[in-house]
Amino acid sequence: QLIYQKGLRYERPPFTFQPQEWERLASERMSAESKGYVVGSAGTGETARKNREAFARWSIVPRRLVKYDGFPDLSVNVFGQKLPFPIACAPVGVQRIFNPEGEIATAAAAAEQSVPFIMSTASSTSIEDVAKANGNGVRWYQLYWPPNDHNDITVSILDRAQKAGFSALFVTLDTYILGWRPSDMDNGYNPFLRSDKIGVAIGLTDPVFRSHFKEKHGCEVDDDLEAAVAEWTRTVFPGMSHCWQDIKFLQQHWKGPIVLKGIQSVEDAKKCVEIGVQGIVVSNHGGRQSDGGNSSLGVLPRIVDAVGDKLEIFFDSGIRCGADIAKAMALGAKMCLIGRPYIYGLVLGGEEGTSHVLKSLLGDLELTLHLAGIQSSSPNHLNRSVLIKEDD
Ligand code: FNR
Repeated sequence: QLIYQKGLRYERPPFTFQPQEWERLASERMSAESKGYVVGSAGTGETARKNREAFARWSIVPRRLVKYDGFPDLSVNVFGQKLPFPIACAPVGVQRIFNPEGEIATAAAAAEQSVPFIMSTASSTSIEDVAKANGNGVRWYQLYWPPNDHNDITVSILDRAQKAGFSALFVTLDTYILGWRPSDMDNGYNPFLRSDKIGVAIGLTDPVFRSHFKEKHGCEVDDDLEAAVAEWTRTVFPGMSHCWQDIKFLQQHWKGPIVLKGIQSVEDAKKCVEIGVQGIVVSNHGGRQSDGGNSSLGVLPRIVDAVGDKLEIFFDSGIRCGADIAKAMALGAKMCLIGRPYIYGLVLGGEEGTSHVLKSLLGDLELTLHLAGIQSSSPNHLNRSVLIKEDD
């Protein structure tokens, strides 16, 4: 309501409201390396393309003369907490390559818009500084999970996150090694191995990592930054996966909900229920990890059918506008994570730019539901009955 009423009188938006223009405008502002990193995808981009195409297969069928007062209620209950809006900022690493303010700007914007901020382990800002910028906002922590022989580092990071007020843990399962990303390889670019060390803020500020480093290299992190950067990068992208039993370790060391990010199959979703985590993110990392894959939206309904009543289902990969959020929620997602679009906002206008993107997406969602006669984002109103599949 707030969004719409201010909407058309919005004081000088920092850039266009047209979501399809954000990528192009941001691309004009970025270096070839940053652009390749955020816009690029795995392989030929087939998975990323399918992520987008999947939305067009579903259409929202509007209903008329639906009597209700005011504006649709966008609030959702997640982990027993009522949140005003059904979106969150997806974890995105190394944000200072896009704007010197990086995560400080986006975490502040998320709090300002009452949107949860999911902080990445690959952040270019420390856990404590992000928490400070996020203030009273809802914040969740995303783990790139060090291998089992580095469990003490994992515990140290989790402790820091809990102390800093991160209330849920998102564990990313699809990135124990970076995907085959031709744009980064053409540019000879790895955002973590940069000379300015911004990809490794969490590691370099971690006391346990620092003492490990000293033991192994015989010097302080600051005396051989190049080696420290390489060591931290190996720690969080170890090149091998954990297994299902390892989740127990995280359950012992994290007091709060655990959400597994990167689930794409019904079988894995059922395993998540078996091991007793509280949520999953149906995600293929925006098509950045494996090429030749399915669209994330395509697998959402069958995962919802299998486990939707047993844990919280988050969704991401390909969301670009309000209608996309509405469709994912109609197919059973509790909440949608926004990835690239808010980074384009960061590029184009720092904190204000990120705010503009989040506000635009929510305003668009609100009117999309309103005009379809959908009274709220709860599954009572927003469910598969509002959609048709165009192929049928
Ligand atoms: C990501 N993503 C990501 N995911 C994660 O769990 N930890 C991370 O550090 C990152 N880093 C990251 C960097 C960049 C530049 C992008 C674009 C994405 C994936 C992200 O959380 C999310 O799954 C996708 O971005 C969703 O797809 P869309 O919205 O970008 O299409």
